Parts: sequence; C-alpha cells; structure tokens
Amino acid sequence: MNPMKRRSFAAMLAGTGLACMWATPAWSQGKKLVIGFAQTGAESEWRTANTDSVKSAAAAAGHELKFSDAQQKQENQIKAIRSFIAQKVDVIILAPLVTTGWDTVLKEAKAAKIPVILESRNVVVKDPTTWTTFVGSDFVEEGRRAGKWLLEHTKNTTGDVNIVELQGTVGSDPAIDRKKGFDEVIKANPRYKVIRSQTADFTRAKGKEVMEAFLKAEGKKINVLYAHNDDMAIGAIQAIEEAGLKPAKDILVIGVDAVKGAFEAMIAGKMNVSVECSPLLGPQLMEAAVKAKAGEPLPRWIKSIEGVFPAEVAAKEFPNRKY
Ligand code: AHR
Repeated sequence: MNPMKRRSFAAMLAGTGLACMWATPAWSQGKKLVIGFAQTGAESEWRTANTDSVKSAAAAAGHELKFSDAQQKQENQIKAIRSFIAQKVDVIILAPLVTTGWDTVLKEAKAAKIPVILESRNVVVKDPTTWTTFVGSDFVEEGRRAGKWLLEHTKNTTGDVNIVELQGTVGSDPAIDRKKGFDEVIKANPRYKVIRSQTADFTRAKGKEVMEAFLKAEGKKINVLYAHNDDMAIGAIQAIEEAGLKPAKDILVIGVDAVKGAFEAMIAGKMNVSVECSPLLGPQLMEAAVKAKAGEPLPRWIKSIEGVFPAEVAAKEFPNRKY
C-alpha cells in the first residue's frame, strides 16, 4: 500500500478505535528501531568480530543500523554521535575509544532524548545519567585471571620472573583495568617484576614493534610477555622468533580475548594462554536497545560470561570458537 492510500485508509478508520493501529509509529509495533553505532575502528580480530556481531544481530531483529567506523579517533566518534542525533535515531550504541572526554556529547544525546548504550568499553563522566547501560566484560577480572594463570604456571620455578607488558590503547577502559587486575595479583609475590610496560594500541603491527624494542633493551632477561590483547601478543610472537628465541618456551606468552588467531598460535606451540573477552555482544545490545527506547529499566552493567583457555585445551576447543 502506498503512503497516500494508507493515510486515506487511516482517515476512514478515524473514530472507529482501529485508527490507533495506523497512528502508532512502526518501531513501537514490531519494535523496529533506527540505531546509530559509533564503533572504535577495526584495530583487532576482536573488534572485527564485535562489529559483525552487532551488524548481524541488528539485521536479525529487523532494526536499521547506521554504522560509523571511527578509525581509532575519539573526534570521529564524537562527530558520529552528533550526526546520529541530527538524524534523530532511536538509540545510540557507543564503543568508547577512551574513558574520558564524553561529557558534552553525551549531554547533547540526553537533551535530544536519545538513549545511549555503552558497549565493550566504559566511560568516566560527571553525569552518569547520560548513558543507560554498559554491555561488556569485567576487565579487572580478566587481568586477575592472566595474573593467576602466571602464578600457578610458574609456582615451581625459582628466582625473579621478569615480565614485559604490552598495554592497550592509552586511556581505554580495558588497558587501565587489565593492568590493574594483573598487578593486583602479581604484587602478592615480589619475585614477579614488570620490567617494561608500554602501549601498543591493541594492534599486531605495534605489538611487534614495541616487543622488538623490549627485546633490544632487555634481551634474554625477559621471561614473560603479558599482552592486553591477542593481536599484540601475535605481533610480539613474530618479534620473539625474529630475535632467535622460542615464544611460549623461552618467553611465556599471555594474551587476552581468546580469538581464533590465539588458538592457532597455541596449537602451533607459540602461545601459552588466552583469557577470554567475548565480542559477541550483538544480541544483548539489541535487547537492551528495545528496552532503552521503551523507557524500561536496565541494569547499569550487562556482563559477558567468559573463561580462560590454556594451550593444553586449544586444539579441543578450537572447533567451538565463534570468533
Ligand atoms: O574493548 C575490548 C578490547 O578492544 C579488546 O580486548 C581488544 O582486542 C579490542 O581492540
């Protein structure tokens, strides 16, 4: 039925009680929404899986998704949010690159009465009512799990355990919290020392580059690499091999995310463990978006459930991995 005909049909129904069926906006009948998604970029295997999950969950639910790839720049994400506000989308999903700098734009979204859902990373803002819920992981716990694996795996060794750390994007929630959780666990034993710690921005290329510098400065002194994500660990593995050392043997390799690339590295005997961080947040996000638009209460944090995968289980688990 074309819109003109629909309007005249609705006019015919006026006063019959059936008219409200036609007057109700389409999204609220079948809960079909227009959603703006301000993604950080495509810095890692994890992030690509996260984008795919949100896109396919939106399509499955019949929502229209306006997607913006910020290419790892906060100013691009702010521009995208402003454009979503101008387009009067129903809900905005934001994967904040870093924790700070969001106060003004989130206030603008609130003033426009557009609920903002945070996904995969969190923010620190003065007014917490400017966002509705955070869908994502417990990054402090992920850091703790990495630390606990290391303590357990090295409990029968003696002497100092020299650790180099590849941090995620400076000022991002997972980088801050994965460091915090890991430090909290290893500080219980003075044998464990972080001798170098630097950002590699969650990418393979920088992971390799920074690890090369660590190897140059510390050489064979390094016993452990703790990378805040698998991509940086995989880049670093290449640097370790090029330096003539054996990853997972001469240097223990710990990553986070549990992406397929990490499983392949573990099966090849080049990586020791990956702590899971699930990117498959799409279905939970779509459910939250419908509730947020309807003004229903949402928990402040919708947590993902995650595990730890050491190399010993990698081959068995690999066929079950979805990302
Ligand atoms: O916010 C989640 C983190 O962002 C992932 O661990 C990392 O790989 C990604 O880039």
